Amino acid sequence: MSLIKTAEKKHIISLKDLSPNEMLEIIDRGIEYSDNRVELGHQLKGKILGIYFKKTSTRTRTAFSTAALRLGAQIIAYGPNDLQINTGETMEDTLQVLSKMLDGLVLRTAESPEILRAFANQKRMSIVNAMTEDEHPTQALADLTTIKQHFGELSGLEIIYLGEGNNTTTALALAIAKIPNMKIRFFTPPNYNIDPILLQYAKEEGIRRNTIIEEFHDLKNLPKESDIVYTTRWQTTGTSKLDANWREIFEPFAVTQELMNKFPNAVFMHDLPAHRGEEVEPGVIDGVKSIVFQQAENKAHSAKAVLEWCIG
Ligand code: CP
Repeated sequence: MSLIKTAEKKHIISLKDLSPNEMLEIIDRGIEYSDNRVELGHQLKGKILGIYFKKTSTRTRTAFSTAALRLGAQIIAYGPNDLQINTGETMEDTLQVLSKMLDGLVLRTAESPEILRAFANQKRMSIVNAMTEDEHPTQALADLTTIKQHFGELSGLEIIYLGEGNNTTTALALAIAKIPNMKIRFFTPPNYNIDPILLQYAKEEGIRRNTIIEEFHDLKNLPKESDIVYTTRWQTTGTSKLDANWREIFEPFAVTQELMNKFPNAVFMHDLPAHRGEEVEPGVIDGVKSIVFQQAENKAHSAKAVLEWCIG
């Protein structure tokens, strides 16, 4: 009698779970896809993926759907109102059932990654976190793919981020913490900071690799140089803020041409969607230093690398 051991499935639930080498493998493969150096069509042949977005998405949903189709998989797309979660079935039961039928599930939910993590030890279905309340891991993977493609390397680069501390910033901090000799300084409005526990985790990881991760609320701490200026929409996924005066608090953190002039060698990045005239001036996002649409396109190439790594 022979015993068949079922391999553990790989997941992307939080960047905390990836080793530096695993993360770099995905980034480098994303660059190969982006540079058209990979023949498509066979990597996920015969696989069936669920694409479930409980929240709005243009880029991430399309990136993972097209990536799966281009790599040879078939997909089942669920919109926010399609599953029985809407009528009260639990996420746990939903994942249990879907895992009996799908090879992988890419999902965007309002919950924390912990509910996904509780399900990660099953051996049937890979889970890809396409954004939860506190982390957007596949955004950071696509961002580092774009940065490495643009600069040729990651080590040695300096980034400043201006804007809200949100799930994209948390993922960026967790990703950069795995790269040696980088610096990222987050400038966030008071009370709109990055999750302090995850930031502390990233800082400590970074220190082990001579990488500096800092958060400030005072723009007087802006450095003299930076390779990248990054921002995100002030109302992440369109959510409103409780503080009636929030715009006044956010205004100094807008990326203006005046700010970009302080960093003449810096490129501009934004995870999109953008609000021109709010977090960024039109002349910056549509200017020659902006790489935001290369960054957006790379979400699809990075998604191919993520799916191949998890399921291929
Ligand atoms: N950046 C990003 O996640 O875009 P979508 O919300 O459109 O997927």
